[in-house]
Amino acid sequence: MSRATCLFVISLLASNALAEVRNKGWWKNAVFYQVYPRSFMDSNNDGVGDLKGISSKLQHFVDSGITGIWLSPIYASPMIDFGYDISDFKDIDPTFGTMQDLEELTAQAKKLGIKVILDLVPNHTSDKHEWFRKSLIGEGKYKDYYVWKTGKNNNQSPPNNWISVFSGPAWSFNTSRNQWYFHQFEYRQPDLNYSNSEVRDEMEDVIRFWLRKGIDGFRVDAVPHLFEDANLPDEPRSYAPGATERDYTYLEHIYTKDDPRTYDLVASWRKVLDDYADYHNEDEKVMMTEAYTSLENTTRYYKFGSHVPFNFKFITDVNNNSKAADFKRIIDDWISQTPNGEIPNWVMGNHDRSRTASRYPGRGDQMTMLEMILPGIAVTYNGEEIGMLDKRDISWEDTQDPQACNAGKDKYQSQSRDPNRTPFQWDSTKNAGFSKANRTWLPIHENYIELNLAKQKIANESHYKIYTSLIKMRQRETALQQGNLKTLVQNNGQVLIVIRQHNEQSVVLLINFNDKIAQIVNLTGQGLANELVVEVATIGSPVKKGTTVNTREINLPAKAALVFASKKS
Ligand code: NOJ
Repeated sequence: MSRATCLFVISLLASNALAEVRNKGWWKNAVFYQVYPRSFMDSNNDGVGDLKGISSKLQHFVDSGITGIWLSPIYASPMIDFGYDISDFKDIDPTFGTMQDLEELTAQAKKLGIKVILDLVPNHTSDKHEWFRKSLIGEGKYKDYYVWKTGKNNNQSPPNNWISVFSGPAWSFNTSRNQWYFHQFEYRQPDLNYSNSEVRDEMEDVIRFWLRKGIDGFRVDAVPHLFEDANLPDEPRSYAPGATERDYTYLEHIYTKDDPRTYDLVASWRKVLDDYADYHNEDEKVMMTEAYTSLENTTRYYKFGSHVPFNFKFITDVNNNSKAADFKRIIDDWISQTPNGEIPNWVMGNHDRSRTASRYPGRGDQMTMLEMILPGIAVTYNGEEIGMLDKRDISWEDTQDPQACNAGKDKYQSQSRDPNRTPFQWDSTKNAGFSKANRTWLPIHENYIELNLAKQKIANESHYKIYTSLIKMRQRETALQQGNLKTLVQNNGQVLIVIRQHNEQSVVLLINFNDKIAQIVNLTGQGLANELVVEVATIGSPVKKGTTVNTREINLPAKAALVFASKKS
C-alpha cells in the first residue's frame, strides 16, 4: 500500500469511528402528516392513489409547513386489508407504482426538506407471503415462522377461545399442515412468531433494506399484538356492553396483548435505526409506535426506544360530549406520564378512526388548535387540514374494509373504516381532483364541491387557513417551541385554557365549550403581559385575528376558540 493510500485508509477509519447520528431530535417539534396512499392522489387514473400521485403533491406539504409524512403501507399485497397484508416486505405493490417511484419520491422530498417515514407491519404477513407458503408445508427454517398449533377435540376445534381483532376466531385451520394458525387480524393475515430468533432477524433485515432506500424512520403497526402467551390459556370474558361471542371486545385480552417481551423487541428495532444512522452519519431515524392500550402501557414505549408512542387519547378518551375538565385531565395525564427528556405527541385522527370533524361536529378547528398549541409533536391525518368529514352512507355493496365485511351486514356500519378513507378533496373538478377515473376505489364525499383545498386556500376564513396559521406560529413562537405548559379550566367549567410561556413570550389558547353563551375570561395572576393579540380565531368568531385584548377581561364568543400571543415590541 502506498503512503498516500495508507493515510487515506487511516483517515477513513478515523472518520467512521467519529461518525454519529446527525441532527438528533429534528422530530421534536414536528408536524407529521399521515398519507393514506390509496386515497391521496391518483396519477394514472385507475381510481386508486399512488406514489407518483404523492410526489406530484409534495408542494402541499411544503406550503402547509409539514415536517414529515408517514405513508400507510405501499408494499406488495393482495390488499385484503389494503396493504396491511404484505406478501413481500421488500417490494412495492404495482397499484402504487414501482421501487423507482418510491426512490424518486424520497429524493424529491429530501430536496424539499420533507422527511418520509414508512409503515412497518411486523406482526403479520399476508397468507400469500413466501414465508407462509413455505411454513404451511413445513419447509426448513420456515416451519416455525408462524404460530401453528394442533386444535382441541382431535384437532376439530381451535386450540383455545381467542378472538381476532376483526371478529370471529383468531385461529384458522390449514389442511396442508393439518394444524391451526393464529391471526390477530383477518384470517389471511397470519401472525409471525417472534419467539423465533430467525423471524426477528428477518424483520431487522427489512428495516435495513428501507433505510438503505433513504427512509427517515418507521411507524410501527399493531405493536401490542406482537406476542402471545405460549401456553395458550383461554381468555376470560369481558362483559363489555353489547359484545356478542364473535366480537373482539367479548374477551379480556390478557394473554394476547401487551406481553412484556414486546418492549424489548421494540428496543431492538430502535437500536437498528440508531446503529444505521450512526454508521452512515445520517440524520436520526425516527420511530413511532401504534399501540391502543392503557396510558401506562403506551407511555412505557418511551423507555424502550419509541420517539413517538402515538397518543390516541383525543380519539379514544374524549368526544363531543366531553367537558373542558375532561380535556384538561387527558392532557395533564399524558404530560405527567411522559418521562423527562421525552417529547409528548398528540394524534387527532388516522385511517382507522372516524375523522376529527365528524367526531367533534363544529369543533374540528378547536381540536386542531389544541394539538398545535400543546407541546411537542402534532400528527395530522390527510384531509383533516381541510376539515374533511366521514362519508357515512357507503352501502354494504360498496363496502371494502375487511373489518366491516367480517362484522356482517347488520353490524358493518359500526365497524367500517371506509367512511374516513374516502379520497382527498383537492378541488371542485371531477372526483374532487383526486382522479380522472370513472370510478374511484371508494366514493368521493359529495360535499367536495364546497369542501376542498382549492376553495379553502382562497377563502377569507377556512379550516386550512387556521391549520397553516397554527403551523406558522409553531415556527415563529419560542413559547411554542420551548415554553412550559399550564392547563386551566375556568368560568364554571366552560372554558379550557392552555398557556405556553418562555421568558417574556407567551401563547394562550382559549376554548369556549359553551355553544350559546360568550364568556369573559380573566387571566390576571397567570404571569402574562397585560395585553395579548389574537393570532388565530375559529371561523365566524366575531373576535378576529389582530384584535388586542386586555388579559383582565377577554371576550370569548360562544363556541369559539382563540389563540393569542404576546405583543411583539
Ligand atoms: C393497524 C392498522 O392501522 C390497521 O389499518 C390494520 O388493519 C391493522 N393494524 C392490521 O394490520
